[in-house]
Amino acid sequence: MLKVLVCASGGGTNLQAIIDRIADRTIRNAGIVRVISNNPGAFALERARAAGIPAVCISPKSYETRELFNEALLQGINEAEPDLIVLAGFLVAIPQIVVDAYPGKIINIHPALIPSFCGKGFYGLKVHEKALERGVKVTGATVHFVDGGLDSGPIILQKAVSIPEGITAKELQAKVMHEAEWIILPEAIELIAEGRVQQDGRTTHILPEQEREGQNT
Ligand code: GAR
Repeated sequence: MLKVLVCASGGGTNLQAIIDRIADRTIRNAGIVRVISNNPGAFALERARAAGIPAVCISPKSYETRELFNEALLQGINEAEPDLIVLAGFLVAIPQIVVDAYPGKIINIHPALIPSFCGKGFYGLKVHEKALERGVKVTGATVHFVDGGLDSGPIILQKAVSIPEGITAKELQAKVMHEAEWIILPEAIELIAEGRVQQDGRTTHILPEQEREGQNT
């Protein structure tokens, strides 16, 4: 059973999608051991507690320096001894000490088709505003491994979403969540739990079911 730790900053709908897919056994080989938020008011924390998952807030505001916050975050992660860290709308740049401690074990969901609309300043609703401004006809979501950079790690899954005429940024955000994020994030977790995601430099390969590395049903 893959032990998953989820970091979330806000509403936590991606966290909810993971909880629901574990409940209905779409995700069969993973369980959430802890949820961490940087935001004491995050509804994600309530969603976790409602599902019986230990949830803690580690806020940068409670620490005198960024370094102390980074260390507290790492300690909060280490305590849960996770096999996989899932950034599900975690709007804190993940500290290098965490990336170094969990190489290849951190994934992130981004609400666009990387390498479009990603990197510095592209988070939450802003991503969809920029996509509409640029007039693209297709957007989507990406699940990728986290390396030292911003949205730069190997891509695991992507799903495209069409942009209809006249849609608002908020409507597009909801469409991308429904049609892409809530589907590919749980799917990526199950693929990793099944040992079917192989990292290969800057890319990944999804192994067919029969070639699973560590089948643990
Ligand atoms: C999601 O759309 C997620 O893709 C995005 O924040 C939202 C969180 O929603 N993440 C980023 O923009 C990271 N760059 P949620 O709290 O309801 O899951």
